[in-house]
Amino acid sequence: MKIGSRVNRGLVRPALASIAPYEAGKSIEEVERELGIARVAKLASNEGPFGPFPIARQVLETQSYDLNRYPDANAYRLRAALAGRLGVEIDQIAHGAGADGLISHLSLALLDPGDEVVFGWPSFASYMLSTLKLGAVPKTVPLRDHRYDLEAMLAQIGPKTKIVYVCNPNNPTGTMNSREELDAYFERVPEHVLTVIDQAYLEYIEEPEYPDAIAEYFKQGKRVAVLRSFSKIYGLAGLRIGYAVASKEICAAIAKVRPAFDVGSAAQEAALASLTGEDAEVELARRRSYNAVSVAELGRILRAFGLETIGPAVANFLFVDLGTDSRPFFEQLLKEGVIVRPLHNFGAPTAIRVTAGTSEEHAVLRQALKVVRPSGHNRG
Ligand SMILES: Cc1ncc(COP(=O)(O)O)c(C=O)c1O
Repeated sequence: MKIGSRVNRGLVRPALASIAPYEAGKSIEEVERELGIARVAKLASNEGPFGPFPIARQVLETQSYDLNRYPDANAYRLRAALAGRLGVEIDQIAHGAGADGLISHLSLALLDPGDEVVFGWPSFASYMLSTLKLGAVPKTVPLRDHRYDLEAMLAQIGPKTKIVYVCNPNNPTGTMNSREELDAYFERVPEHVLTVIDQAYLEYIEEPEYPDAIAEYFKQGKRVAVLRSFSKIYGLAGLRIGYAVASKEICAAIAKVRPAFDVGSAAQEAALASLTGEDAEVELARRRSYNAVSVAELGRILRAFGLETIGPAVANFLFVDLGTDSRPFFEQLLKEGVIVRPLHNFGAPTAIRVTAGTSEEHAVLRQALKVVRPSGHNRG
């Protein structure tokens, strides 16, 4: 047999034929290597601009000694801390490799081929990919005024619908749905559906109308799974850790589909320290206010160059619809050392998403925008 010979037709599941793998934002290293640029600002993947919390860094330094051991497969200490803090039972918390890991686990636990999944569009690409991978059927609902249209989503729910995703705030638009809108949704959503409220950016948000889905829906007995992440404000995107709060039955089902040692020990310990460590609350508040200032600055820069941002955007990123294929603009910006996110996989091929960064990163963006314009032609 030849090494690397082709596999038989039919070996790979047909459901995968129409799927392109998740296209991650370009890395700084990639751009430096490919384009030979020394100063690169990555404003592409909605990460926080800072690393782990100082207390998490300290913990990570000691972790390296124990890495010959497998991690706690049940993430007991982290889940116990989360349970105490959130006022839920430990069996109502499922951990995973990022909120993304939980989307994947939930899909695997709930979806059979032909089942339907309702979500707004443009939105987070993983809802689409996780659905298609299992041969389930995505029912996308256009945004209204760039926000999830919960009324229209209700109308898409049928007997085969298993999951409804509410991305709040929505990635890539940054817009949110209010408590009032979600209350009205829960009045009408049928019993057989699991609503997944994705709150990956919750910690950034200060809007009084923004609901805490664990306190206000899960604990009030609504049929929800709430997703949270340590990748954003906590600065742990590289370690991969997030969690879901859901009923015991859903968490038990997730435990059945989760790979045995899904989340490493360093990730568990760093997340725990970020929650409970000394000064963790102070650091959280500091980052939240930094982000508010940073998003405002980013908006001013973009608008100064004629790039209208849509909103109100409440997280750590801004959305700009260029009205024309965004890839040439993305590529031009790359050459100037700025990585933004073209949104073809998110259902918005004419738009870009720009993550708020530090003032230094914004200065690189400002400089680039002096040279590049959205049509892809240089300003000369
Ligand atoms: C809405 C939303 N959900 C989930 C995720 C995945 O986050 P994690 O890094 O926790 O997998 C992201 C990441 O960008 C996101 O924007």
